[in-house]
Amino acid sequence: MKPEAVQEMLDLLYKSSTDELAMLDYLVEWARIKYASDSFSPTQIKLTEYINKIFETLTETASINTINLHHEIEENTSVFADGKMLISIIQNIVSNAIKHTEKGGTITVSAKSKNGKIIVQVKDTGIGMSKEIIEKLFTPQMKTLSETRKKNKGAGIGLLLVKGFLEKNGGEIWVESIEGEGSSFYFTLPIEKPLYKIGSSDGIMFDESA
Ligand SMILES: Nc1ncnc2c1ncn2[C@@H]1O[C@H](COP(=O)(O)OP(=O)(O)OP(=O)(O)O)[C@@H](O)[C@H]1O
Ligand SMILES: [Mg+2]
Repeated sequence: MKPEAVQEMLDLLYKSSTDELAMLDYLVEWARIKYASDSFSPTQIKLTEYINKIFETLTETASINTINLHHEIEENTSVFADGKMLISIIQNIVSNAIKHTEKGGTITVSAKSKNGKIIVQVKDTGIGMSKEIIEKLFTPQMKTLSETRKKNKGAGIGLLLVKGFLEKNGGEIWVESIEGEGSSFYFTLPIEKPLYKIGSSDGIMFDESA
């Protein structure tokens, strides 16, 4: 192949990947604006009410796959968060767990309080994740994005939005996982209204090294 032809191909490749990144950036920004600035209204939320609501919408998919979906959260557990964002956070994490758990598996949502925060754990007995996948979960990746698209799976932006929403509410997210055994996603939210202003307008950083 002539050098000019190779250069042309490289240019094309570069353009299509930067286009894709720009689109993702735009999408995340859109979601942030839609959910964040306009209607960000955190309130005191009873966690079990929300979890039960979400379980109602997901229980059918879970039962088709004979997955036992349940929670062990005490009735009086509450968090201070934006309701819409909280639904989106939990829905994303739990539906990921359903997607990656084989028939007969179990998904357990539990919560405990620590230092003025609630730590929620979503534990599954699914396929788990390799270290490589874990490292890239919360930053947009060109490679994984195009690969999952090809396999007709999700767009790979669920957890990016989840992380953005949690940060807006003064929370954090992390994961523990063993390949072949399962995963636990943990996130925190304040119990009471924080005294300082939470949420930031920082953009989500793209890891362009991938
Ligand atoms: N509970 C889980 N068990 C195993 N792998 C998981 C789990 N949750 C997420 N993953 C992995 O992390 C990847 C990214 O998840 P994310 O929710 O960001 O995107 P997605 O589910 O692929 O697509 P989308 O949420 O945009 O539909 C998944 O494709 C999957 O490989
Ligand atoms: Mg997802």
